[in-house]
Amino acid sequence: MRFWDSTDSSGNNPAIEFCFPCLRPPQADRAPIRNYGSVGQRSRSKEGEMKRFMIGAMLPTVLGIAGLASADEELRRQAAALFGRIEAVTEGDASPEVALGRALFWDTRVSSDGKTACASCHLARDWGADSRRFSIDARGAATSRHSPTIFNSMGQPSLRWLGDRKSGADQAESSLTGSMGFPSKDAGIKRLQELQYLAAFRDAYPRDADPITPGNYARALAAYQATLRTPAAFDRFVAGDDSALTDRQKAGLRTFISTGCAGCHSGPLFGGGSVQRFGLVKSYWLETGSEKIDVGREAITKKEEDRYLFRVPMLRNVAKTAPYFHDGSVDRLDRAVRIMATVQLGRASADDTVASIVAFLESLTGEIPKNYAPPGQRPEF
Ligand code: HEC
Ligand code: HEC
Repeated sequence: MRFWDSTDSSGNNPAIEFCFPCLRPPQADRAPIRNYGSVGQRSRSKEGEMKRFMIGAMLPTVLGIAGLASADEELRRQAAALFGRIEAVTEGDASPEVALGRALFWDTRVSSDGKTACASCHLARDWGADSRRFSIDARGAATSRHSPTIFNSMGQPSLRWLGDRKSGADQAESSLTGSMGFPSKDAGIKRLQELQYLAAFRDAYPRDADPITPGNYARALAAYQATLRTPAAFDRFVAGDDSALTDRQKAGLRTFISTGCAGCHSGPLFGGGSVQRFGLVKSYWLETGSEKIDVGREAITKKEEDRYLFRVPMLRNVAKTAPYFHDGSVDRLDRAVRIMATVQLGRASADDTVASIVAFLESLTGEIPKNYAPPGQRPEF
């Protein structure tokens, strides 16, 4: 099963591909009415004149609408090529593996302090992220980076701010001794046995003689998280519904493409696909006011060329997942957008430009998946 429906994965550079004047309605700024009634059209009946007047009066409107429709078409074509769209999961939730993953995700007992679940730092009311700058793990320590949303996250080729986990299963397995606080993976497995999880693991992995393993714990969690997709107004627009986006949002989408945001935030998740330097034209902390300077991927690779490299985050649901950046240093989305324009693109942005990009980003807000709650419950706020 493919995670998304993308029409183009060529990764074209939008800065090159983009052609702003092409988006203007082709006839809009001409006035075809002025050509009416010119040569050879003088001596006609009143009725005919009236008719011509009507047609003449209507023509700009008709052309205007046709022009706008084709502008929408052109924008849709570009959006489909640069981003593509995502779809909700319809099947899947019923499988025993997903059901197990859901139970594990919400179970606070599967942690060293008996009080911490995955959902403790990926909250429903925060759209699968955490509105605190840093979260508190099962050992009582603050996390070193901000908790991002897990919605749609299984579609990324690597995970976390440093892109240092290959898959959802990889991420979940290391959580056992990380956020969940167990001294060893075995200690986590022992807890699952004590909590009578055997039957659920057997249902999910019937071929395994001894199904409670760190690998299966991780696989089940990844399978559940893969069901948490949040299609939004943007996807409806790409699918053909012009009215899904407001004019302001369409303008914001054009700006997002034309100023170069899409150069990094591309693909159906608007990011997640690459690692880039944060602060290409200016040190990021000068704008974010970060208290601590995080060296990014250099921390794990120990290579100087990896300094300040972070994974480009997805922007799906970004309007709901403040605070922003790897250290949650920025509270407002408009500020985050302005900072991006300054430190990544060297652009000063007018308030109106920032506001239209923010309006566009709001079109990436989907609904909280109905299964984002403990088994048998509905999401709570
Ligand atoms: C103590 C809080 C906390 C708990 C508990 C926690 N997480 Fe996280 N999660 C985080 C933080 C913080 C990050 C970002 C870490 C980083 O990038 O350095 C993160 C990152 C992730 C990511 C990567 C998302 C992305 O887009 O890269 C996934 C997936 C995830 N967590 C799933 C889980 C699962 C599954 C569990 C339970 C096994 C879990 N988390 C438990 C705080 C937590
Ligand atoms: C050169 C690549 C690049 C470009 C261009 C770029 N970004 Fe980013 N963006 C990133 C990276 C990397 C981060 C993560 C920075 C961090 O916190 O470490 C990020 C973070 C963000 C965030 C914060 C997301 C969150 O969940 O915290 C937003 C919002 C954002 N970008 C929007 C934009 C907008 C709007 C533009 C265009 C004005 C843009 N970006 C241009 C690479 C880029």
